Amino acid sequence: MESLRWWQRAVFYQIYPRSFADGNGDGIGDFVGMAARLDYLRELGVDALWLSPHYPSPFLDCGYDITDYTGVAPEYGTLDDFAAFLREAHARGLRVILDLVLNHSSDQHPWFVESRAGRDSPKRDWYVWRDPAPGGGPPNNWTSIFGGPAWTLDPATGQYYYHAFLKEQPDLNWRSPALKAAMWDAARFWLDLGVDGFRLDAIATIFEDPELRDHDLDLDMDALVDVNTLTPEQYERLMGRQSKQPGLHELMRELRALVDAYPGDRVLVGEDDDLTFHGSGEDELHLVFNFPLMRARRLTPGHVRANQALRLAALPAGAWPCNTLGNHDSPRVWSRYGDGAHDAALARLHLALLLTLKGTPFLYYGEEIGMADLQLGALEQVRDMAALHRYARLVGRGGVAPEAATRITLATTRDRCRGPMQWGAGPNAGFSPPGVATWLPVHPNAQAGVSVAAQAGDPGSLLGFYRRMLALRRATPALVAGDYEDLPEAGQGCLAFLRRGAGQACLVALSFAADAQALDLGPVGGRARLRFASAGRAEGGLVEGELALGPFEVVVAELG
Ligand code: GLC
Repeated sequence: MESLRWWQRAVFYQIYPRSFADGNGDGIGDFVGMAARLDYLRELGVDALWLSPHYPSPFLDCGYDITDYTGVAPEYGTLDDFAAFLREAHARGLRVILDLVLNHSSDQHPWFVESRAGRDSPKRDWYVWRDPAPGGGPPNNWTSIFGGPAWTLDPATGQYYYHAFLKEQPDLNWRSPALKAAMWDAARFWLDLGVDGFRLDAIATIFEDPELRDHDLDLDMDALVDVNTLTPEQYERLMGRQSKQPGLHELMRELRALVDAYPGDRVLVGEDDDLTFHGSGEDELHLVFNFPLMRARRLTPGHVRANQALRLAALPAGAWPCNTLGNHDSPRVWSRYGDGAHDAALARLHLALLLTLKGTPFLYYGEEIGMADLQLGALEQVRDMAALHRYARLVGRGGVAPEAATRITLATTRDRCRGPMQWGAGPNAGFSPPGVATWLPVHPNAQAGVSVAAQAGDPGSLLGFYRRMLALRRATPALVAGDYEDLPEAGQGCLAFLRRGAGQACLVALSFAADAQALDLGPVGGRARLRFASAGRAEGGLVEGELALGPFEVVVAELG
């Protein structure tokens, strides 16, 4: 246990700065607000915070379109506010990692403004500019991940620039040594200030095929509304030449060397699930997310077993797993895994899974009180530009009626998981002062028990469960450091596994079923002492022979 690094022991909590706490009453979260909530986070029992982008941005991709890599968005505060937040977090033993967006900047970034000013601009090659195809039109048939062509013409200079995402997010050209040096300087700027590492945005798309070869997916691209609807094979054929290109691993190694030059074990977490980003296990990224776990519509014991078997076997020696069930791009845990009848029990079950699997867990703000997906009422409320582009494609090329396209957009926009944190039951849920228009509406369920204030004093609440589980993990070395050993005899309705290590052996039994389950303890020695149960069992009690599990029950017990 002692030999583990802090980021192997830590539980991370992702904060979406715009939505966490509004300190100055303008309807938008900020650093003063976040700093005032650090005690809450400490008491919750998390160890590290990941902040989604906090940089100046026109906010067309919710901050992932940056105009200054070493600044703070004015609506979030000043650099001094940031430094005070960091100091206060560190004073409470909370680490802080930032979101480093390497693939692209905003088209409003001074670098891009200069780059597009003329073909002979000294920063022309900081972005990816190409002449039109011989017969006119874009240089090739590549697609933006947010839909539509990946090339946009700049009429003034007659060339196209490349963007893997929105046209307002031009791709940076990492083959330019000067660009690379400027970006590494930006990374050092924050490391010098004392941040504990970075979550690396969209790393797969940093390089493109230098020969710009067309993709060969035989599809009517004009009719394709959303690349995420493709099968994995189709997606690979479509995007293969726009992602995971040579040079990427070398670049990650460079960045690793850069952070390793700092004291204090700074960490790099890649927004990707590809285990090759661990490199040798020591020389690229410390953590990459286990997205295949998260992306299942329903998690079943079979899915988790297969997922763990595959990923743990493929992990290079020295590398460490990392699991998450929700973030700012995906439905909220409550809504994704809920079934309408057992939502609260399912939320508990999924947290228990996340905190007992081997690896570093990442939680998403608001998950701990059961925040649900926000249902926006009108297109005008949508802030996620990618969703609005999709709407336009649905109505345009997709031929979908506007009412239906609106319904689809409101049901799928990423805004739904980015709503204001629900601190209390009062107006604006205590996120902003009463009467202020918040940047996204507050979920009405804040008035119905889904708030910190409503749950904080109640150990039986979801928040109480999160605190208990986080405390259990902290007090149970095997749950952090132990190996993972599946118990296949648990059957279909139940996932059971051992976490063995650090002088301890723990049995984790998770019922994924709405009816009673039983787990034969024979294979693990016939008996176990209860450490934790979601139902009201006496902790410390001995279970012998068979462990009976109620619907969706969670049990952690110690062997031996
Ligand atoms: C990542 C971010 C997502 C963003 C995209 C482009 O996938 O998580 O929110 O839209 O990159 O920056």
